Amino acid sequence: MPPRSKPKRAKAAPAPPFASAPGSLLDLEHLPTQDITDILKSARRLAKTPRDLLSKMLPGRRVALLFYEASTRTRVSFEFAAKNLGAVTSVVTASSSSIEKGESLTDTGITLEATGAEAIVIRHPSSGAASLMARHVSVPVLNAGDGMHEHPSQGLLDAYTILEHKKDLRGLRVVITGDIQHSRVARSNAHLLSRFGAKVTLCGPPALLPGSASALAPNLTLERDFARALRGADAVMMLRIQKERLAGFNLNVDEYIAGYQLTAERLRIARKDAIVMHPGPMIRGLELTADVADGPQSVIAEQVGNGVLVRMALLLRAFKA
Ligand code: CP
Repeated sequence: MPPRSKPKRAKAAPAPPFASAPGSLLDLEHLPTQDITDILKSARRLAKTPRDLLSKMLPGRRVALLFYEASTRTRVSFEFAAKNLGAVTSVVTASSSSIEKGESLTDTGITLEATGAEAIVIRHPSSGAASLMARHVSVPVLNAGDGMHEHPSQGLLDAYTILEHKKDLRGLRVVITGDIQHSRVARSNAHLLSRFGAKVTLCGPPALLPGSASALAPNLTLERDFARALRGADAVMMLRIQKERLAGFNLNVDEYIAGYQLTAERLRIARKDAIVMHPGPMIRGLELTADVADGPQSVIAEQVGNGVLVRMALLLRAFKA
């Protein structure tokens, strides 16, 4: 028998363009590979930790949740994650904050820190908002999704979910389908999965794909034909059409459904044990059919539950606890 080859190590991350408070999470592109591994391990440990022990991990620590864009999953799971650990939270939304009166994002960050916030979680419609905030405060900043840039905690919870069902990311065939061009989820997943050796195919109509795969992350393949993309897939991640980011592009919904909706028939092209993922919010009947969303291969609800574990791990990392 030939000797087993040593497993290849995951690639290193490029250096971040600027310094931020330790424990910050601004993107996955620059997050060290060891940090990704440690966060996923920590989330696995937390899954087995009794609630009464969890609640003693960050007693009374203050977490500000700045949500300037709509969110259900990310906002609730960050808040529950903080509360599970015994921290206290304050949620600030655009319509209820002094941004309405003209205060800048950076002044809001400085104000939150002055009130005693020890970590700031931020969702914002503008790419780069989390990094801008991180340059102006000395507490950790956690990016909960910034425009079309990245959604790093989603990328981490997706990797966690995949690894609950598959042994290894190396060599795994992952198809991400939909509005790739505008998707921060696709970007974060592409960075993480390609770093760990997964074979990532980005699929969608040309108008919703980037001009070149390398514009998004290294080692990706672009594919317009959904059936071709699905062949041999181990995980199929469907994305929402982000109407709010289409900026003048008129999507023909019927054509989109005909070409890219994940149906039970199309899912049969993938591997038998392929998992179906969606970061949410999902539109049943558009990017996937209800029977697929609720079917035995769907891990969509698991993704949401795992989000609380991964975000607890991120908060512990932010507080170095
Ligand atoms: N996946 C995700 O970011 O969902 P929300 O917009 O509901 O937070």
